[in-house]
Amino acid sequence: SPLSQDELKALVGQAALQYVVPGEIVGVGTGSTVNKFIDALGSMKDRIRGAVSSSVASTQRLQALGIPVFDANEVESLSVYIDGADEIDGRGYMVKGGGAALTREKIVAALAQRFVCIADESKLVEALGRFPLPVEVIPMAAQQIARRFAARGGQATLRLKDGQPLVTDNGQHILDVRGLSISDPLAFESEVNQWPGVVTVGVFAHQKAAVCLLGTAGGVRTIH
Ligand code: A5P
Repeated sequence: SPLSQDELKALVGQAALQYVVPGEIVGVGTGSTVNKFIDALGSMKDRIRGAVSSSVASTQRLQALGIPVFDANEVESLSVYIDGADEIDGRGYMVKGGGAALTREKIVAALAQRFVCIADESKLVEALGRFPLPVEVIPMAAQQIARRFAARGGQATLRLKDGQPLVTDNGQHILDVRGLSISDPLAFESEVNQWPGVVTVGVFAHQKAAVCLLGTAGGVRTIH
């Protein structure tokens, strides 16, 4: 029988272990695919120094397995950062933030020499923009940022949780923007980063994936 999406995630989570450098600290992302990677990492925890984590959720999961978690300020550089994505294109450009962890993800990714993306094949797209773009914003700027997206054809909505604005690990809000077409991810990321009140835009173009391990029916497909 064909592999379920959950099994595809477990497959790439396990395959990512080969990119972990023994004796070093590994950068760890957030999400259901990364959770599979963290579980697999438990099997080599005595061969690594520890991890830098991109969310409270991943930190808790790492610590529950006995993997030491370092503050990002304690680390000057990482060989590798392993994380999922909501969308990835053939060039390694990604949309992230479906789990609201995009800011810390971009910070940890920026410490790493190599971003290894792990995803099931449903995440591979021709062009970014189908998945609503997450943008972490300072709450008082949310509406003016929404208007800037509207001027570019995007419809921004405030992400809610239990009927209230979702509050990120950093105490900020998330806009989800539909209807954008992101043909030039590098330029788009640079432009949105200039808007006052934008904390992080969920386009990862300056911090793109060097390698993507894609879970497919035929096994793990590696895209460079
Ligand atoms: C978290 O903010 C996101 O960037 C995740 O990396 C993304 O949502 C992927 O999550 P899944 O592995 O659960 O699809």
